[in-house]
Amino acid sequence: MSNRRTINIGLCGLGTVGQGVWKHFGRLRAELEARLGARIVIRRVAVRSLSKARAVKVPRAKLTTDALALATDPGIDIVCELMGGTEAARAVTLRALRLGKVVVSANKALICAHGAEIFAAARRHGGHFLFEASVAGGIPLIKAIREGLVANRFARIYGILNGTCNYILTQMEDLDAPYASVLEEAKRLGYAEAQESLDVEGWDTAHKASILAWLAHGVWVRPEQMIVEGIERITPADFKNAASLGYGIKLLGIITRDFETDEISVRVHPTLLPEGSVLARVSGVFNAISVSGDVVGTTVYIGRGAGQDATASAVISDITDAVALLLHGKGAHFMGEELPPASRGARMAPPERIRGRYYVRLTVADRPGVLARVATIMARNRMSIASVIQNPSERPGSASLVLTTHESDERSVRAALRSLCALGSVREEPLLLRIGDLED
Ligand code: NAP
Ligand code: HSE
Repeated sequence: MSNRRTINIGLCGLGTVGQGVWKHFGRLRAELEARLGARIVIRRVAVRSLSKARAVKVPRAKLTTDALALATDPGIDIVCELMGGTEAARAVTLRALRLGKVVVSANKALICAHGAEIFAAARRHGGHFLFEASVAGGIPLIKAIREGLVANRFARIYGILNGTCNYILTQMEDLDAPYASVLEEAKRLGYAEAQESLDVEGWDTAHKASILAWLAHGVWVRPEQMIVEGIERITPADFKNAASLGYGIKLLGIITRDFETDEISVRVHPTLLPEGSVLARVSGVFNAISVSGDVVGTTVYIGRGAGQDATASAVISDITDAVALLLHGKGAHFMGEELPPASRGARMAPPERIRGRYYVRLTVADRPGVLARVATIMARNRMSIASVIQNPSERPGSASLVLTTHESDERSVRAALRSLCALGSVREEPLLLRIGDLED
């Protein structure tokens, strides 16, 4: 062992994920060292608070509050960025890459906001950036797309990409549990982001969809260019309505590419999925992603999408790749940083042209003529109604009206919703959900 090279890691962040990495790396270290043929040492650990009580015991001498010092320390080979946020994380990441180090990151918000700059810095300075934990938690999805499916072009990738939202939706559906208490539980379990709005408003899924779009198509799509809708307005009644129509409700990230027009579309929204479909049955913190390649057909990946252990599994996978890279040079994981020209250059499809079927829930005054006025507005906007469910509303004198439509497009449904909102008899902002006709 004595003539083996020592690889030193700087761990930035000792929260949910950082503690998971510390715990499992400590347990696995001897085995990983034997497999990789090197000593691997977590040399320093950066935190915000030196006095915070933690579930893992890290020697005080290893702790610092200066994350940037880990990036610049010449003794550190691999910087593991598990702090979250985009400011300090960006500074640490760029500094380490510019010094030719390997950076391992779970930070999808950072990659979505600054991915182009980060990969350019890695290329220019001989650094490497590994990010398996940033999408779908413990599922090795990035490896699958980048390496296992390298022979394919991807017409469609879609799935459940946020564990917190899937946990909340499942608990609401199965146990009729109130939204707020399930969100608190997801936070306690370590699934949610420090800023929980990233999860429930759909931004975290958008960050992950952006990373997948870049991996598959070489294009950085920003959340502002996507339809991004979250789960906050979904109620237990929506699950009952969806079930009566034969559907479950999932928050999906959907990335499609039309290879004839060379347009791509990336969107995030709660979606009604047929009850019998694979993804509709994926519950709790689990993620599930369907990847359709032109050579392989459709492959589906399911596993824990958030939480300490699942995420640590992905980070440790990147750490071992980083060690192998430092010992033996460039590996397959380097691919994707430079997609061949044929794979690049897709344009964004205008969101208003996206076609689909819709579920619209309205709270309306319960009086004669209202349904007729709603139907007239739908017809004026060329929206064809497929079904109507009317239930009593919790609001006195109101009814809950759920319409499903035949296929239309975003422009028409949005115009219809604007007109509906202007009706005096519509008492709340309508809830719009998409009906997913996604199975192969
Ligand atoms: P967390 O529990 O909030 O932990 C963040 C850690 O970073 C804390 O230890 C904090 O120090 C430290 N930190 C924050 N800013 C710092 C700074 N400027 N300098 C030094 N240390 C700093 O977050 P987490 O859940 O572990 O998530 C970490 C990253 O992994 C995020 O990018 C997140 O999106 C991503 N991720 C999380 C999950 C998950 O399931 N939780 C899954 C996949 C990816 P203190 O402890 O002293 O406050
Ligand atoms: N908050 C994220 C989620 C963590 O719930 O999916 C995993 O990326």
